[in-house]
Parts: sequence; C-alpha cells; structure tokens
Amino acid sequence: MTASIDFGTTNSVATLNIDGNIKKIKLGKVNFYTPTVLFYNFEEKSFYVGDEAIEQLEDGEFGRYFVSLKSFLGSSDNIETNLGNNSYKIEDLIAIILKRFKSKIDNVAKCDVKKLTLGRPVRFNDTDDYLDSLAQNRLKNAAIKAGFKEVNFCFEPIAAAKSYQQTAKQAETILVADIGGGTTDYTIIDLSNSKILATNGIYVGGNNFDSKIIRNFISTYLGEGSVYTNMGKEMKISHSLYVDLYEYYKFIKMYNRQIIDAIKKYIQMAHNKEPIKRLLELIEDGLYFDFIKAVVDAKIELSSKTNTNIDMDFFANPFKVNISREDFNQVTKDEISKIRDTLLETIKEANIDKSKIDRVLLTGGTTLIPSVYNIYKDIFEEDKIIQTDVFSSVGYGLSFC
Ligand SMILES: Nc1ncnc2c1ncn2[C@@H]1O[C@H](COP(=O)(O)OP(=O)(O)OP(=O)(O)O)[C@@H](O)[C@H]1O
Ligand SMILES: [Mg+2]
Repeated sequence: MTASIDFGTTNSVATLNIDGNIKKIKLGKVNFYTPTVLFYNFEEKSFYVGDEAIEQLEDGEFGRYFVSLKSFLGSSDNIETNLGNNSYKIEDLIAIILKRFKSKIDNVAKCDVKKLTLGRPVRFNDTDDYLDSLAQNRLKNAAIKAGFKEVNFCFEPIAAAKSYQQTAKQAETILVADIGGGTTDYTIIDLSNSKILATNGIYVGGNNFDSKIIRNFISTYLGEGSVYTNMGKEMKISHSLYVDLYEYYKFIKMYNRQIIDAIKKYIQMAHNKEPIKRLLELIEDGLYFDFIKAVVDAKIELSSKTNTNIDMDFFANPFKVNISREDFNQVTKDEISKIRDTLLETIKEANIDKSKIDRVLLTGGTTLIPSVYNIYKDIFEEDKIIQTDVFSSVGYGLSFC
C-alpha cells in the first residue's frame, strides 16, 4: 500500500494505492483537496490544518497563520518560529501538516501506511542546486517526522502526464504545463514509450501574481512612499520595509519586535499617519488572513471578469481599490514573459518541432488566468489544448509514478 501526496504551495491532494486500486483521500471539508495552510491558536496552544485552519480564522480566533510553507523549502531563509514554549523549523511546521494528512490516509487504509510518494516541482530554487536538493531533503525529513518510513519523489508535471495517460486513447507526445501557487513546471513526454523528452521549471506561480497586485495597487494604502520628517529632513518611507509584505508568504518575518518598533516610529513622524497605521494593524491585529484573501479573490475574479474591486473593509480606516484586467496584465508582464520563455526553452531542450506536440495539458490553478492561457493559445492550435482537473491531476497521477 502506497500513499501519495501532492504537497502544493496553495492546495494539497492525497491518494492511496491499494493493489492498483486508486482511492482519493478527502482532505478537505467539501473538496478532496485542502488549502496547505496552518494555524496556531495562541489560547489553546494547538495547531489547525487546511480547512480547519481557515475556520479558526473565520471564527476570529487569535493566532498565527502560515501559508505557502513550500516556498520556504528552497529558500536560504532559515525560518524558525517560536510558538508557545517551542521553536519550529520549516520541516517541523510541514511535518504537522503531513501528519494530519497521514492520519486521514491511515483511516482510509485502516493501517499505518509507511510508503509515500511525494510530488516535487522541477526546481525548488531556480539558480542554486544546493538549495534545490536541500529543499527536497527538508520535505523528506518532514514526511519522516510525520510517520512515513519510505519516501520517494516524482516531478509534479510528470505526475500530471501520468494522470492524463490513464485516459489517453492513443499514444501521443504531450506537453504538460503545471502552474500552481509557487512554481511553473513543464515536461514533454512521449507516451508511446513513456520517454521524457524534457523537464524544466521556474520559480514563478500564482503567488507572484498576487505580489504584483499588492506592490502596484495596495502598498501605498499601507504607507509605502509616505512622507515623514525626521530631524527637520523630509523623507519617504523606505521600500525595503514592504518587501516581506509583497511576497506575502514571507510575512511571518514581520512579526518581529524591531520591525514593529520601526513602524511605530514612522507613525509618529509621518505627515499622513493613516496609511502606515494600517501596516501595524495588519501585523498586530491578525488581519493578515483577510488581507491575502481580498487580494487572491480579486485575482481570481479577474479570470472571469474584466474589472474587480478589492474591498479592504477590515481595517479601522477601510479603503477600496478598483483594478481592471488590463491593469493586471500590465503589471504581470514579466511573469508572463518568464513563463513563455521557459516554455520555449523546454521545447528546445526536447529537440522537437512544436508541431510534433499532439496535446498541451494545462494544469494548476494559475493556468486559469487568461493571459497565462493565451501563452499556449498563441503558440499551439487551440484544439490541442486541454485543461481539466487543474487542482487534482498531479495528486492523482502521483499514484502512477
Ligand atoms: N480562477 C483562478 N484564476 C486565477 N488564479 C487562480 C484561480 N483559481 C486558483 N488560482 C490560483 O492558483 C494557485 C493554486 O493552484 P494549485 O492548487 O494548482 O497550486 P499548488 O499545487 O498548491 O502550487 P504548486 O504546484 O506551485 O506547489 C493559487 O495561486 C491560486 O490563487
Ligand atoms: Mg501543484
């Protein structure tokens, strides 16, 4: 019996292979997938995972909220967080999530499942091979801490290809583009002999699109660029204070005394105090969950509408921002170029003409963004493109790796 987990940056999926019979494990309250998030309740001193973590936040419980933990795996930031009397490294936090998933898997299996196949992006880190392999080791350690004994890895786009292979009627050469919350992953595979012609990936995903929204449309409302006077000199609040707000998974770094003190000083010196006060509220009043949700919901709405309103009504001094799809496309041009360039490199690496690619399989939530979809539409004939099970194809395909 082997379990599989697609430990996603944003969502996770698990399956169980019982003698070739594949069972999906219901990780979420409604869906089979659940958000890959963790919440530590300060009062109870206990952890909540996935949908249950979201419920805690919606109930207004006070604690610490962790998102995109996978993004820390390949980072040189050695995050260590103190909660209650304990200190937690990235592996420890991920182990808590995987342990919760394991108990759901064990319940279905009616035994202690020891073997696990984990998905991994083609690259955890774009440039540094050491950090890339460190990331896989960290994830493996987390799985061992969660109680698994034998852990294997499979590239996520290859898992998506295997999932498609279950339904493909004839052998084909396919390109898989898997763009999730954290990474863009490609593989070109010849299904007639399962030969992998190319695999490639970059560290660009939905989180980067969210970051661009925060940076371009929101951060001034939180004080970026505000003018203050210090010892008679007029200055602007530094951009560097906001870096961990843009890349919001790094936001946990802002729960830091020095940063909070610096913000309080800026509040005293700022000409207009209201915007920078919101940054302090975000950190001290547990508004971070509502903040990210408003940004991500707006991005998702722009996939089906040409305009959206971000309503930041949870601040003491609320504000609204209207964003058009055109504005969004404009500020995310770099991401689109990187995703396109990596595609072209992957086709080159496979050493085939693009006309030899019979199918283009789009998976991962970020392929739902129209400008991302258009990358493929511009390069391939549209009837070659298929986009199904964007949130579950990797998780399902891992059982065939
Ligand atoms: N309709 C939509 N339009 C645009 N983006 C969307 C939509 N639905 C979901 N997303 C985005 O898709 C991403 C999540 O996709 P997915 O679940 O495939 O990622 P993941 O597997 O968790 O991440 P990764 O594979 O990179 O580790 C998030 O960034 C989410 O905001
Ligand atoms: Mg994924």
